[in-house]
Amino acid sequence: MKKALLKLGGRSLEGEAGYASLGRAMRKLHGCKVAIVHGGGAEISAALKAAQREAVFVDGLRVTSPQDMAIVEQILSQTVNQRIAGYLRAQGVAVQRLSGKSDSMLTVVPLLRHGRSLGCVGEVVDVNPEPVRQAWLHDQVPVISPVSTDATGQSYNVNADAAAGALAGRLQCDDLIYFTDVPGVQVEGEVLMEISVAAAEKLIVDGVITGGMVAKMESAFAAIRAGVGRVHITNWQGDGTLVDLLERAEAQGTAVRG
Ligand SMILES: Nc1ncnc2c1ncn2[C@@H]1O[C@H](COP(=O)(O)OP(=O)(O)O)[C@@H](O)[C@H]1O
Ligand SMILES: [Mg+2]
Repeated sequence: MKKALLKLGGRSLEGEAGYASLGRAMRKLHGCKVAIVHGGGAEISAALKAAQREAVFVDGLRVTSPQDMAIVEQILSQTVNQRIAGYLRAQGVAVQRLSGKSDSMLTVVPLLRHGRSLGCVGEVVDVNPEPVRQAWLHDQVPVISPVSTDATGQSYNVNADAAAGALAGRLQCDDLIYFTDVPGVQVEGEVLMEISVAAAEKLIVDGVITGGMVAKMESAFAAIRAGVGRVHITNWQGDGTLVDLLERAEAQGTAVRG
């Protein structure tokens, strides 16, 4: 049976109708086990704003203070995770709600950027794939919040792309697909059919790939180095999306090449 990891961006699926389409798409799959890792950037920003905390990003990564962390965890591991699970269950998909904390699925250390800590932002250093394997054994789709812990049990915010890449690598997935709010990596308005490490590095230096797309590139290349078969960055294209990508092995959006 093939294995696929789907990363859902905060704005990749529009509301209930989008998630209903995802649920129907999952029920069409027969030769593929699927796991979901989700983000929730817009909602975290809204909740932090309501609490009068400023959103600060470094290279597309959210700087997270210990006070912000409680809000981040509530939104990601409860509000967003519960909602996605509920929408999928409504379509008859059996799901298992998990986070990086479940059975120490993801262990992190503080992430450093330009030699500086971003607060409670973690970098994945160890992956326990058992919670996903157990869910798959029971024919359940794991729906995973990227909030994780360090070796002492402290909570960290992990970029959902990074969590997805690390988990897909450890699971040796055949496919890793980043569903986002753009149809792929774009250069001068055109979607690239594929992108190599060298091309991505140049586009990042040139400021053509910025913000959240940088995190996708970095985690995609790490996943390929770790042995993931195929990686795509794309948007949701309706109920046929998963069968086309996973069972017909069609390309969609931008394919990332090692
Ligand atoms: N070259 C590029 N091509 C496409 N998107 C890009 C590019 N450079 C930056 N981006 C930005 O990356 C965003 C996707 O990342 P992000 O906002 O983190 O979404 P997600 O929640 O899916 O992770 C796009 O909405 C776009 O604004
Ligand atoms: Mg993002």
